[in-house]
Amino acid sequence: MDKVYIFDTTLRDGEQSPGASMSIEQKIEVAKLLANTGVNIIEAGFPISSPKQYEGVKRIAETVEGSVIAGLARTLEKDITTCYEAVKSASHKRIHTFIATSDIHMTYKLKKTKNEVLKLAIQAVGLAKSMVDDVEFSAEDATRSDWAFLADVYSAVIEAGATTINVPDTVGYTTPDEFAELIRYLLNNVKGIKNVIISVHCHNDLGLATANTLSALKTGARQVEVSVNGIGERAGNASLEEIVMSLRTRKDIFKLDCDIHTENIYHLSKTIVYFTGIPVQPNKAIVGENAFAHEAGIHQDGMIKHRMTYEIMTPQSIGRQKSLLVLGRHSGKHGLKQKLVELGYTVKEEDFKRVYDRFVEVADKKKEVFDEDLHAILEEELNIIPEVFSLVYFSVVTGNKVIPTATVKMRKKSQELQEAATGDGPVDAVYRAIEKITDTPVKLINYSINAVTHGKDALGGVTISVERNGKVYRGYGVATDVIEASAHALLNAINKILNNNIE
Ligand code: KIV
Ligand code: ZN
Repeated sequence: MDKVYIFDTTLRDGEQSPGASMSIEQKIEVAKLLANTGVNIIEAGFPISSPKQYEGVKRIAETVEGSVIAGLARTLEKDITTCYEAVKSASHKRIHTFIATSDIHMTYKLKKTKNEVLKLAIQAVGLAKSMVDDVEFSAEDATRSDWAFLADVYSAVIEAGATTINVPDTVGYTTPDEFAELIRYLLNNVKGIKNVIISVHCHNDLGLATANTLSALKTGARQVEVSVNGIGERAGNASLEEIVMSLRTRKDIFKLDCDIHTENIYHLSKTIVYFTGIPVQPNKAIVGENAFAHEAGIHQDGMIKHRMTYEIMTPQSIGRQKSLLVLGRHSGKHGLKQKLVELGYTVKEEDFKRVYDRFVEVADKKKEVFDEDLHAILEEELNIIPEVFSLVYFSVVTGNKVIPTATVKMRKKSQELQEAATGDGPVDAVYRAIEKITDTPVKLINYSINAVTHGKDALGGVTISVERNGKVYRGYGVATDVIEASAHALLNAINKILNNNIE
């Protein structure tokens, strides 16, 4: 199987993106991770662009083993000599020099003719070659360049010693078919192209970076320039994880391999998020929080029956924990059952309906039902004693200038009973109304409340002890609303009293 060289530019194009700057120590850490992950070439920075960039590349070249360390340089002599100084201590080093070849860049940005650009490209590659064996040349904005001129430039730099020729889609303008056609054209028109590696560097302005990169690989490119999480100028670069996992998952189509240890991908992604502060969108392919999360009931059911119904790769293959069955309002009974098994609960069929109903109630109020929510629900529901009364509804009017008043409706068999009461506070008012309806006055001896889950919409768990006729009964209630949790706790205790279930 043919090999694809993975050239990672997280530390150069990625770090160039707004707000992404990392400290030198962080860059070294990232470079070590990239090397351990099997990245073949690490573009460590653009040494001439600042003293910090220079220092970063130099320190990486001195400390990181296992990958080629590359530095970027324009075609200027001072860029190339500075780049060499920065990379020279690496066991394997590369100078990557570039100049724009599109009319728009040559006319307005460089203010140079085609011949001048061609000459600069040849000189730069020649100079770099006198310093290192491994020289990469990029024709910036290649995809908007005149193809014949591009072929002339690449032919000339190969003759001058370039070992890799990079075809950048600098502004993310090309499409998969057009890019494949360009690569084919170069294969047929560039002298010496068979002796060098064709590289591609795709930006994501139209969201096509991954597709364009893969299309070029199908046509003969063998180096891909990528970044972790796709960070880079503007909309970013093709992302390492998408390219690598496409090659692995669709080996049947690409018939190409690379040296990446995919189990490191997730850690790498998290590290970049942490170091740059640039988050990954939740639905981002491969590394997004939801990339292996299934919420819809039908999907969860499918996943439980056979993982491959809804997953084309395993989360473990990129170093994530197992797939998440995210429980929310779209989850069905199968999803809940599976989750309960995972949490170690054996819920009898006759209890399950109650747990499920309670789960639906909570899921309607919360976006996501966490494991802790389920523990709380189960604790309440599985300890349940036969319900004499159940809560139908309550409302409370409260404030610092009003007397707290509660209206509570409860069901006893087929009968619905309603009462209103006032109290010292909202919970007290609800408790008095409940006592009236159930005709079971109690003395509250203990009341405690705590958040049993996390987040703003966490479930509150209320535990109470009440005394009746000299006996103490405990009650537990849980809900997103603390007053409702309190009501459930009192009802739980009163139902025990009415069942004479003493604790
Ligand atoms: O996007 C681009 O053209 C680049 C080159 C320097 C390779 O980043
Ligand atoms: Zn770029």
